[in-house]
Formats: sequence, C-alpha cells, structure tokens
Amino acid sequence: MDLLWSLLSITCLFLQLEGCTRVIKPNTVVVDVDMTLSTPSPCRNVMLQCGEHGPSVYWQKEKQKIGKGSELTIHVDDFPDAGNFTCHNDNGDILNHTLVLIQVTKNDRGEYPKQILQEISDQIYIKCETKNHSGVFECSWNLNMNPNTVQILVEAHRSNSSISCTVHDLDKSRAVCHELTYCPFQEEVEKVGFNLHAIDGPRFENYSSEFFLADIVKPEKVQIHKKDEGDKKVVMSWEYPQSWDHPHSYFPLTFEVKALKNKHNCDHEVRSDPRTPNHKVPHKGSYHFFTEETSLQLNHSTKKYVFCVRAKDMYCNSPWSEWSAIVLRDPGQQCWLKDYYYSLCFLKHRYSLCHMWHLGP
Ligand SMILES: *[C@@H]1O[C@H](CO)[C@@H](O)[C@H](O)[C@H]1NC(C)=O
Ligand SMILES: *[C@@H]1O[C@H](CO)[C@@H](O)[C@H](O)[C@H]1NC(C)=O
Ligand SMILES: *[C@@H]1O[C@H](CO)[C@@H](O)[C@H](O)[C@H]1NC(C)=O
Ligand SMILES: *[C@@H]1O[C@H](CO)[C@@H](O)[C@H](O)[C@H]1NC(C)=O
Ligand SMILES: *[C@@H]1O[C@H](CO)[C@@H](O)[C@H](O)[C@H]1NC(C)=O
Ligand SMILES: *[C@@H]1O[C@H](CO)[C@@H](O)[C@H](O)[C@H]1NC(C)=O
Repeated sequence: MDLLWSLLSITCLFLQLEGCTRVIKPNTVVVDVDMTLSTPSPCRNVMLQCGEHGPSVYWQKEKQKIGKGSELTIHVDDFPDAGNFTCHNDNGDILNHTLVLIQVTKNDRGEYPKQILQEISDQIYIKCETKNHSGVFECSWNLNMNPNTVQILVEAHRSNSSISCTVHDLDKSRAVCHELTYCPFQEEVEKVGFNLHAIDGPRFENYSSEFFLADIVKPEKVQIHKKDEGDKKVVMSWEYPQSWDHPHSYFPLTFEVKALKNKHNCDHEVRSDPRTPNHKVPHKGSYHFFTEETSLQLNHSTKKYVFCVRAKDMYCNSPWSEWSAIVLRDPGQQCWLKDYYYSLCFLKHRYSLCHMWHLGP
C-alpha cells in the first residue's frame, strides 16, 4: 500500500512537473487545458493552501462553500471549474485566496487558440514600433473584450539590460517601453522579447513578440513646404520629423519622392524611365526617385500635381514613414475659385485670392 502511494505521488509529481499548472504570480495559478481531450487529466489538480489555520478553515468559490481544511485539492477541466477560491475562518473572514485561471492549449481551432486579442495578420497579435533610436518603443494590439474587464500585464526583456514597460490605463491596448541602456551605435546581438499576459474572467492567454529595435524604427511623417519662385518654378522642401534623432548627420534618412500628375494618391506606382532609373527626370509627366536631399525644384508646374514624400532610416531595414502629400496647382492656370468669385476675382481681389489659395495645402 505504501509503495502504491509513493508510486502514485511520484506519478503526480511527474505530471505536475510536465507543466499542467503553473503559478504566474502570487495567488494566481494557470491550468493548461487541452479541450480536445475528453478524459480528465490528473495533472489538472490544483492544491489550494490557506496557511496554518487549523481544521475549521473552509473554502468558498463565488459565495458557495466547497470544502473544509487548510488544504483542498480541486480538479480543473473547464471554465466553470476555474475562479477565485477564498478560505475563511469560523467568523467568515477571508484568510487567503487563489485565483485559478485556464489557458486553452488546444481546441477544435488548433493550438493555443486566442480570443482576447484580435489577430492583426497570420498569428501576429502585437505590433511594436518606435519613432527614433532613443530606446523607447511602443507596442499595440486590439482587444476583443471590454477593456474594463480585461487585465493586461506586459514585460519586455533582453539579456544584460533592463526594460520597463507601462500599459496605458484607459484603453489597455498599448504599452510604452524603455530600454535604458540601448545604444543605437552598437549592433544588436539579441532580440528584444515582449510578452503579454491577458486575463478575461477565468481565461488566461499569453502572447509574445520578438524584434530588433533597429528593425521597428518608423519615422513620423515629414513636413512638406512649398515656395513659389515665379516663372513656373516651385521649390518643394521637406523636413526631418521632430521626433527623429539628432544630429541628423549621424541618423540620416532616405526619402522617397513622387510628384504625380493629376488625381493620384501617393501609393500610385510610377514606373521610372528605363533610360534614367531613379533620376529626377519626369517619366510621362510624373516624378519618382529616392534622395537624401531635402528639397527639389520643379521646373514646369503646368499640371496639377500631388507631391508625396516619405522617409526611412538610411541604414536600417526598417519601415517607411506614412506618406505626406500636398496638392500643387499651377498658379497661372488654375484658380477654381475663379468662376464663383468671377466678378470679385476680375476686379481686384483675384490675385490675392489665388495667391492665398495656392499657399494652402
Ligand atoms: C495563500 O495562498 C497561496 C496560493 O494561492 C499560497 O502560495 C500561500 O502559501 C498561502 N498563504 C499561506 C500563509 O499559506
Ligand atoms: C479574489 O478574491 C480576493 C479575496 O476576496 C480578492 O482580493 C481578489 O481581488 C479576487 N480576485 C479577483 C480576480 O476577483
Ligand atoms: C552580457 O554580459 C556578460 C558579462 O557582463 C557578457 O559576457 C555577455 O557577452 C553579455 N551578453 C550580451 C548579449 O551582450
Ligand atoms: C504560452 O504559454 C505556453 C505554456 O506555458 C507556452 O508553451 C507557450 O510557448 C507560450 N506562448 C507564448 C506565445 O508565449
Ligand atoms: C522617440 O520615440 C519615442 C517612441 O516612439 C517617443 O515616445 C519619443 O517622444 C521620441 N523622442 C522624441 C525626442 O520625440
Ligand atoms: C530644375 O532646374 C534646375 C536648374 O536648371 C535644376 O538644377 C533642377 O535639377 C531641375 N529640377 C528638376 C526636378 O528637374
């Protein structure tokens, strides 16, 4: 009998070590449940411990008495078995508690099916980005559940450095992290690991993402300025974003520039002239090129143009900024206020109105 008992306890211990249950923080236990298994698994036993309080201690879950004694073993197979277990003394005072949560490891939808966050793209739930090389980065996700009931815990790490993260308290759908020791001039040997724990009622889910900071640098939009130089000449210039690193000579950006003829949006593809690829020569009236410079003189603004610029770190294989765009009209030909304000325009305000209009975006 004794032998049987020790065999049993060894088996139990072994199953316990297989990692069916784990303590994720004090008083919180997560039980991994494979929903495709019909037979209850012995590894899903959770021992609730109240502490040294004698035999009169009793346990409750959702105001219902469920057992007595300072230790109680419960079996967790499905969501109704999970919850917040409290132990009480004779007077009904709460002595201790254990929150038991379930992580579904498998169900008919596959391995680790997720519900609390929305999938952004195939198996991707978290997006991390930074506007510069300061070591500060932001991660965001979309909640499927009411932010008032969901609890989100995040943590980021990379060996030898400390990274602190704070979740935004209101929408709970983003976190700002800061790696204090980040040095943009040193090659990153190891990726940053970002982990997210989401708890909704008895449901526990974990999510993670891994990246090099240099790969997630996405500059903010550039500011475009336009200056009429007369004689159909227009000088377009653009600035490094305010949030980009200084000095700019150490952190150069590459710009993609397009001047698109008529009614195109910036994503419109311009095939460059095969004879002059990536050259500032218009092909069929539209420009498209890459440059490190921050201005361009357009010499024949006879058409309506959409002028687009976006930026990217020159040295990193990181994302482009969003496009910035401004619509150009030829000062000589187009003043669409003209007809409506004809008399006005024709008299003496015409030029000032046109001028005002063309200065605007
Ligand atoms: C209270 O419960 C937790 C588990 O939820 C347990 O780890 C801890 O030991 C208990 N406190 C005492 C004093 O036993
Ligand atoms: C679980 O119960 C304890 C004791 O009443 C309480 O402090 C704790 O906030 C509860 N946790 C949850 C998630 O309801
Ligand atoms: C971490 O620090 C140890 C000792 O300080 C060093 O040997 C190791 O190369 C460092 N690892 C990384 C990834 O920088
Ligand atoms: C979530 O937790 C399980 C069980 O501990 C683990 O096997 C899995 O790798 C984790 N997944 C993520 C994305 O962290
Ligand atoms: C650098 O980027 C971080 C994260 O994107 C941002 O919070 C911070 O304001 C930026 N720094 C400057 C100087 O704008
Ligand atoms: C416009 O003319 C100036 C001076 O001739 C020249 O330097 C510049 O490259 C031209 N710009 C474009 C976009 O062709």
